[in-house]
Amino acid sequence: MTEVVSTVASVRAAADAARVAGGTVGLVPTMGFLHAGHRSLMHAARSECDLVVVSVFVNPMQFGPNEDLDRYPRDLDGDLGACAAEGVDLVFAPGVREVYPEYPPATVVHVEGLTERLCGASRPGHFDGVTTVVAKLFAIIGPCHAYFGEKDAQQLAVVRRMALDLNLPVEVVGCPIVREPDGLALSSRNAYLTATERAVAPGIARSLRAASAAVDGGERDAAVVIGLVRAALDAIHGLDIDYVECVDADTIRPIERLGGEVLLAVAVRLGQTRLIDNVRFRLAP
Ligand code: PAF
Repeated sequence: MTEVVSTVASVRAAADAARVAGGTVGLVPTMGFLHAGHRSLMHAARSECDLVVVSVFVNPMQFGPNEDLDRYPRDLDGDLGACAAEGVDLVFAPGVREVYPEYPPATVVHVEGLTERLCGASRPGHFDGVTTVVAKLFAIIGPCHAYFGEKDAQQLAVVRRMALDLNLPVEVVGCPIVREPDGLALSSRNAYLTATERAVAPGIARSLRAASAAVDGGERDAAVVIGLVRAALDAIHGLDIDYVECVDADTIRPIERLGGEVLLAVAVRLGQTRLIDNVRFRLAP
């Protein structure tokens, strides 16, 4: 049975009880409107942890003033069904006041250096909102494992670095991107797409596959790889490129030659909707 709680005291009490009994606590932080990508995180947590907690909280702090906070899709009943189906023990679905006794908070967690490029460039303050709420969730629940999707690759790198820098006793686990059969990476924001936008959206993943084929064939020049992605994206009607970048997957620093752990990341706008996708290469240094 999946239990639902909305207060810090109750989720903390449940996590404390699991730890006292010698159990491990896994956390899947989400903003709800759960899809198969989130379910893969829950599945990983269920296979590794004794108590699995899913947080469902649309965090106002990570939305810019002109972003989609008010229209962000919500469906708590559907979310509870997905959590029950994955054997989640506890859903933490707090209100804003419960997470932020004072809003905005005076204390902000900022990860320097990994947050200025890619999504950080077009969404100023976004990652401060993410790291502040994730640090809060870690402090409230005290998970030993926390699960994040690799689709949000920059977020994953930023949260990992926060955990390292703050000596947080949590292993940050990255889980592979889950895609629709036509290749579109799953995202709650896919719900915004019109039928026409949805029809062309798989072109984003196709552009990354074209670049991957070139890398598999030995291409190591980042400018060439980026050029391939841009050319494929430019051919998609109604799509505007926000960025196409090749960076080191851990530091998010741009690279000129591909080697080591490389992230090829894109962000685009299709009409009103901003979508991101990426592919990761593990190459010889
Ligand atoms: O990836 C998300 O859904 C959010 O950024 C997260 C990690 C739940 C923090 O609000």
